[in-house]
Amino acid sequence: MSNPSLLILAGDGIGPEVMDEVKKIIAWFDAKRGLSFDISEDLVGGAAYDAHGTPLHDDTMAKAQEVDAVLLGAVGGPKYDELDFSVKPERGLLRLRKEMDLFANLRPAQCFDALADFSSLKPELISGLDIMIVRELTSGSYFGEPRGIFEEDGQRVGINTQRYTEAEIDRVARAAFDLARKRNNRVCSMEKANVMESGILWREVVQAVHDADYPDVELSHMYADNGGMQLVRNPKQFDVIVTDNLFGDLLSDVAAMLTGSLGMLPSASLGAPMENGRPKAMYEPVHGSAPDISGEGKANPSACILSFAMALRYSFDEGAEADRLEAAVEKVLADGVRTADLMQAEGGTPTSTSEMGAAILAALEASL
Ligand code: IPM
Ligand code: MG
Repeated sequence: MSNPSLLILAGDGIGPEVMDEVKKIIAWFDAKRGLSFDISEDLVGGAAYDAHGTPLHDDTMAKAQEVDAVLLGAVGGPKYDELDFSVKPERGLLRLRKEMDLFANLRPAQCFDALADFSSLKPELISGLDIMIVRELTSGSYFGEPRGIFEEDGQRVGINTQRYTEAEIDRVARAAFDLARKRNNRVCSMEKANVMESGILWREVVQAVHDADYPDVELSHMYADNGGMQLVRNPKQFDVIVTDNLFGDLLSDVAAMLTGSLGMLPSASLGAPMENGRPKAMYEPVHGSAPDISGEGKANPSACILSFAMALRYSFDEGAEADRLEAAVEKVLADGVRTADLMQAEGGTPTSTSEMGAAILAALEASL
């Protein structure tokens, strides 16, 4: 049998720097744990635009459809701000999500004990925090038609459409319930059923899926604005949150910041199972390309490394090895190793990107 395949799309800004550390981690699992992958690399975002005039070449898209999992770094940067909307770096990312039909975006917000003081909330509110946001990723106002800037009564009008089919709500609800069963068995669904018809349908379908197939899972519903408030008031009340594409974009940033640093947070975007039983999948850090620090060796590679841990867990059924990698990151934090994003005002010299990667490798080695 051939090895499982990985396509690495490091992208822009700090993407290539953090991905370099992930490659070392992958090599370690190959050498020490017998987990070998067939790895290919390609361009996405601004890097692809510079080379090909498009943020995602068709050949890259085709490769992404064929591999077992895609690992993505980050896209975007000020250099591309003036580009036409259709070729902006972000369009490459959105095309991958849409064409691979990665409808379930898993964004864990977990507070590492060693970082409890980093949150803008009181440590007791966030210590031990472990939330999973499941964001619908291929529909809603990000993709709904009609969309565009049109001329109406002598002025321009910008239009985006919030649109959800029952099937789209059904499948992401199932993903959330399945996850909840492996965690604390609670799902909170968030929408704006008080003002939006799409929210009314969302609530009905989530409830129906629950009643038919997941009656054992505890389900609650919340308006998304209240959800934002509750996330900063008492985040530990949540286990799994399921919500639409746009609310999920906002709420996952809120949840992420509860933990103190975007530099720690991974994500998985999953679609339907392929012929080999693995889900279509792309793994990426929640942070962006951070152009302000790119090229300086300051970026925290943890989020990207933890995204690879999610790949081990969700694509390759290697839960124990994922645990090992997550424990290595946790160990390094407990030892006080800090990249610049984790330093607040305490002074001292921050650990560089590659030093952080090396510390995680050393912790992996010590785990054997
Ligand atoms: C995210 C990002 C993207 C989004 C951007 C880069 C298109 O904010 O993954 O949360 O809006 O989905
Ligand atoms: Mg976002």
